[in-house]
Amino acid sequence: MESRKPLLEVLGGKATWPSPIWLMRQAGRYLPEYRALRAEAADFLSFCLSPELAIEASLQPLRRFGFDAAILFSDILLLPWALGHPLSFEEGIGPVLPPLSDRTLLARLDLDRLRPAIEPVLRAIRGVRAALPSGVALIGFAGAPFTLACYLVDGRGGEFAATRRMVREEPGLFAELIECLTQAVIGYLLAQAEAGAEVLMLFDSWAGLLSPRLFHRFVIGPTAAITASLKARFPAVPVIGFPRLAGLMVDAYGRLAGVDCVSLDTAADLSLAERLLPAPIVLQGNLDPFSLLSGGACLREEVLGIAEAVRGRPHIFNLGHGVVAATPPEHVAELVGLWRGLA
Ligand code: CP3
Repeated sequence: MESRKPLLEVLGGKATWPSPIWLMRQAGRYLPEYRALRAEAADFLSFCLSPELAIEASLQPLRRFGFDAAILFSDILLLPWALGHPLSFEEGIGPVLPPLSDRTLLARLDLDRLRPAIEPVLRAIRGVRAALPSGVALIGFAGAPFTLACYLVDGRGGEFAATRRMVREEPGLFAELIECLTQAVIGYLLAQAEAGAEVLMLFDSWAGLLSPRLFHRFVIGPTAAITASLKARFPAVPVIGFPRLAGLMVDAYGRLAGVDCVSLDTAADLSLAERLLPAPIVLQGNLDPFSLLSGGACLREEVLGIAEAVRGRPHIFNLGHGVVAATPPEHVAELVGLWRGLA
């Protein structure tokens, strides 16, 4: 019989104490073993598309820190790539894509390419699932449609001015792009669940760029469509949503987006979120990655504050955003020890 998995228990609504712990970007450049492995691939995209390397990168942080979850090592921008949109990762910039500025480019996104293109990702999921330590759950993920659209329309990270203009100046075109991405995310996450992902997470890193009215249309609406399709096929697979920077809009997100758990960013006051997002919604978060980077007394105080705010309700310990590359791995070990040592 498979041993109990605390992450799945909490997502099923059962509060356990101390809460299960994993960290966004728990694999990556802050780990020397990741940097060594990364040197084996010519570029970041081929790294993600090599199942052997992606499996090993997913498992590295588990060996070191004994987290309660593994997250598939990949990137949200593999999805537009799988639809045929060119993608590269450039040193010092991050992801770079040709900006999607008109209908001709939108028409080139090809849903039929998705399934064969993501085969290496599915192989990595099967491999990680087979190698998981007992008690550890596997999280699959995708970017949410709005955040994917931000990178597609602007072509790189920044202020996303082109996206914010298209939302207002060409709402029909933007809605078509969101609809196409919604279908792609559904196909991608269903395939990940079939391949063995036990939890699915939607990263909407730029959700908070929208006003409430546009947030309902381009964040909550598409997310609700995605969760409805996932639940129809995999009712027992929980979904975590991360509407970063959404502020008070997390209230509507929690009620209407159909997610089981809301991942909160650093600015969310957990004792207020506790009231805005009552159980059965699970809260995930929300230590500031810079408290982890700096360590010391501030780290301890912040962690104790989180414990006080969420004790007694279903919660998953995480950061409010990903681990920063300069973080000393010893601080992560200290954090895990501190959290697991809470009485
Ligand atoms: O450990 C994990 O969390 C799994 C791996 C993971 C990566 N990216 C690896 C990665 C996950 C879940 C992501 C999600 C992701 N990717 C998001 C959503 C979460 C967030 O951070 O807001 C976004 C917006 C992206 C897009 C992206 N990919 C950016 C902006 C960058 C450049 C910034 C950076 O940190 O370099 C990437 C590259 C990337 N994705 C790296 C890693 C480990 C660094 C590249 C390298 O190692 O060479």
